[in-house]
Amino acid sequence: MEFPVQTANPAKIETACLVVPVCRDGQLLPAAAKLDDVSERLIGQLIERGDFEARLGKVLMVPFAPGLGADRLMLVGLGERERCREGAFRKALDAAFEALAALPMEDVAVAFTDAPVPERHCDWKARMIAEAAHRAVYRFDTFKSDKPPAPSLARVTLLVSESGDAEAARQGARIGDAIGQGVATARTLGNLPGNVCTPRYLAEQAQALSQASDGALAAEVLDEQALEALGAHSLLSVGRGSAQPSRLIVMRYQGAENPDDAPHVLVGKGITFDTGGISLKPGEAMDEMKFDMCGAASVFGAVTSVLAIRPAINLVAIVAAAENMPDGQATKPGDIIQTLRGLSVEVLNTDAEGRLVLCDALTYAERFTPASVVDIATLTGAAIVALGHHATGLLANDDDLALDLLDAGETAWDRAWHLPLWDEYQEQLDSNFADLANIGGKPAGTITAACFLSRFADKFPWAHLDIAGTAWSSGKQKGASGRPVGLLTQYLLDREADAVVETGVEPKAK
Ligand code: BES
Ligand code: MN
Ligand code: ZN
Repeated sequence: MEFPVQTANPAKIETACLVVPVCRDGQLLPAAAKLDDVSERLIGQLIERGDFEARLGKVLMVPFAPGLGADRLMLVGLGERERCREGAFRKALDAAFEALAALPMEDVAVAFTDAPVPERHCDWKARMIAEAAHRAVYRFDTFKSDKPPAPSLARVTLLVSESGDAEAARQGARIGDAIGQGVATARTLGNLPGNVCTPRYLAEQAQALSQASDGALAAEVLDEQALEALGAHSLLSVGRGSAQPSRLIVMRYQGAENPDDAPHVLVGKGITFDTGGISLKPGEAMDEMKFDMCGAASVFGAVTSVLAIRPAINLVAIVAAAENMPDGQATKPGDIIQTLRGLSVEVLNTDAEGRLVLCDALTYAERFTPASVVDIATLTGAAIVALGHHATGLLANDDDLALDLLDAGETAWDRAWHLPLWDEYQEQLDSNFADLANIGGKPAGTITAACFLSRFADKFPWAHLDIAGTAWSSGKQKGASGRPVGLLTQYLLDREADAVVETGVEPKAK
């Protein structure tokens, strides 16, 4: 999709549809006011006559627009002006783009950068517009025989009222376009069924990304033999009961001027299906455990965004991939395994498998002497109990890193919430027979899961994102969300900006 920016008079724009946001107070925003002037007060009259009420998310398509260069005019309600904050703005964007994607139009122009969102500038609004456009045209119908035609939307022109804002809008749209692509990548990997998206399939995706990257991304895959030789017995213990072999997938992107700059490392949980293993899950909604690789999917998504933006940072992306199944070879409750780190773990519940693959991946990350490590995992049902489906859970051994991630989530509007990782919780993991147990009992399940990981993350600033509540939706709208690709990409862009401040070296023009 393309996102050109225009500062010309909106009345003159030739496009299939001109999209204009309207606040409920009847006072027209700049583009709408200009259109009103040249169209015998078309917009003002529609509001006065009660044909259009600017309630949040209301959309009115006016199929003819006399006096305008556009074939059609679409009005989109922003609701009350005072309540037009980030969430409302996004809701209006989603309503508009959903309606646009349903119509056979290739080219539209939107005046959404006019929306009065406090403390958000043109670049941010442009970025949200591009992300919303990508969200709306996303389809996952690979397995449907009778596919409706794909949306034809290919160009979204951003109309900017202040010509001084044009460059900011261009930059914002570029980032939003990249994040939109990353989100779509993550959604598709998440939505693919467990019989297609196996650990091997994920490894192939890494090879494919690398091959399409013109040398910008290197991919390396460790198979079971390599993992055995390495000593990653904890990762391997999870896939023991599966016919699908486990994989550790490593992708490296070197964008920094200095290839030796310490990289930022992302680590994704890639359980391509989680039955629970011998500690079998109940049958209800077990199909949703195909989404248990959404942490890995978000890592692939962030890599996709990074390849589109090419920031001047070094990045290592690691995916720990396995399928958790019960069979005669499967790990049993009470089994004791040896981690790559050398700590022994008593597996009291084979359904707490995410931490078992992640701990070896975290140890593997040590070899890169990282500037930071962030793992992303659908780790605990308890995260849904604590935070529901809006906030991603964030735990960290470093408060600066935690703040950087919270900030990135606010900027990207893909928000996280910080939970405590106090030492007092650690004793819940005491084991009578090994160095630690893989579960910590009922209280604070999200925290004790992070406590487990923290034992393998003492060599670098580390944070853990529990996306159990945010990675996908259930019910009628069942499907992967692509979160937290926005947060992760923003976090990496912020690190690039930090490096400019610290070194005074601007990255090469892109
Ligand atoms: N993948 C699940 C967590 C999960 C469950 C995410 C439901 C989203 C919805 C994870 O592997 C798991 O099973 N965790 C257990 C841990 C428990 C055994 C300590 C859980 O949350 O029940
Ligand atoms: Mn599990
Ligand atoms: Zn799991």
